[in-house]
Amino acid sequence: MSGVRYEGIEKRFEAFTALHALNLDIPDRTFLALLGPSGCGKTTALRILAGLETPTAGKVIIGDRDVTRLQPRDRDVAMVFQSYALYPHMTIADNIGYPLRIRNVDAATRAKKIAEVAQALEIDPLLDRHPRQLSGGQRQRVALARAIVRDPAAFLMDEPLSNLDARLRLSMRGEIKRLCHRLGATTIYVTHDQAEALTMADLVAVMRQGELQQLAPPADVYERPANRFVALFVGNPPMNVLRAEVSEQGIHVAGATVPIDGARHQRCLASAITELGIRPEDIRLAAPGSPGALSGEVYVVEPMGNETLVDVRFGDERVTLRAAKGFTAAIGSTLGVAFDAADACFFDSSGSTKVHRARNGEAG
Ligand SMILES: Nc1ncnc2c1ncn2[C@@H]1O[C@H](COP(=O)(O)OP(=O)(O)OP(=O)(O)O)[C@@H](O)[C@H]1O
Ligand SMILES: [Mg+2]
Repeated sequence: MSGVRYEGIEKRFEAFTALHALNLDIPDRTFLALLGPSGCGKTTALRILAGLETPTAGKVIIGDRDVTRLQPRDRDVAMVFQSYALYPHMTIADNIGYPLRIRNVDAATRAKKIAEVAQALEIDPLLDRHPRQLSGGQRQRVALARAIVRDPAAFLMDEPLSNLDARLRLSMRGEIKRLCHRLGATTIYVTHDQAEALTMADLVAVMRQGELQQLAPPADVYERPANRFVALFVGNPPMNVLRAEVSEQGIHVAGATVPIDGARHQRCLASAITELGIRPEDIRLAAPGSPGALSGEVYVVEPMGNETLVDVRFGDERVTLRAAKGFTAAIGSTLGVAFDAADACFFDSSGSTKVHRARNGEAG
């Protein structure tokens, strides 16, 4: 296995720029999720690494080799696609062993590797079957087995779970994470699903319109989003964003004034804050009219089984909060909510995060 580096990778398709000077350093044995909405350039970035697309500018480094001009077969990477594309006329064993066969690996070594990989992925009882006799999840595991059978320098996966139903996606998500962990494989995993990125990755690269927004461990992307876009894209339900003004008294938001600690207050005053962000789990119910409480109107109440999501409206603004299971309130009734300014982050008019949430109550 090897680390992977994108150095100033740019990709233009005629007049359209799909990637703007992308710099990414992925250490050896790291699981990186490339996360972003449809069309932001995830697949393009992966195809450039695989050698299926030529960058307009920049370099791709795998280990200590500049592979920018190398053919796909000389790059020593294995790619798993969304459609797992097994050969229907071959047995599972032959499907898995195919990359070894085309590299002229002898039959005995091949059989040994196939058995090892199949056991690791718990598909060894299926080796004599054909793809049509397998479930979707089993086929996906065969596709993974075929990718890992020859110990590539890096694994590239482009939304490998998107063809599976919701339940299977959840279980495969854990399986792939375990597998990559055990193999110590450098993995670049493309997804538009923020939950997959947060749960599976060591590092998350959030992209938007061909530009990297943030590269950080999942907890940082969630707790300390670099900007409003990342804040809204990561987390479900998304972070609430409200107009905010700062004065000597505190933060003015949705008709209330919320106190804030000295150091962060000064930073907010100094940085032309226009909005604040607060996560649904950081908002609590409060008596309307109590100090610092925001008074609003119940927009909708959604029981989720384990908890209740409550939407509260303040004029033209709205927040979602997580309440306990069993919570009820009539649509249109008055509800008070409150939050600690220590749990909020603050954006300027460009959407950049100027003040992060406080860490463990410290100024942050
Ligand atoms: N061969 C091409 N010619 C022209 N434009 C292209 C080409 N390939 C991709 N694009 C454009 O580049 C942008 C990025 O495409 P890409 O496939 O990398 O997006 P993505 O992030 O993988 O999206 P999705 O989540 O929908 O798969 C899109 O606007 C796409 O239309
Ligand atoms: Mg794509």
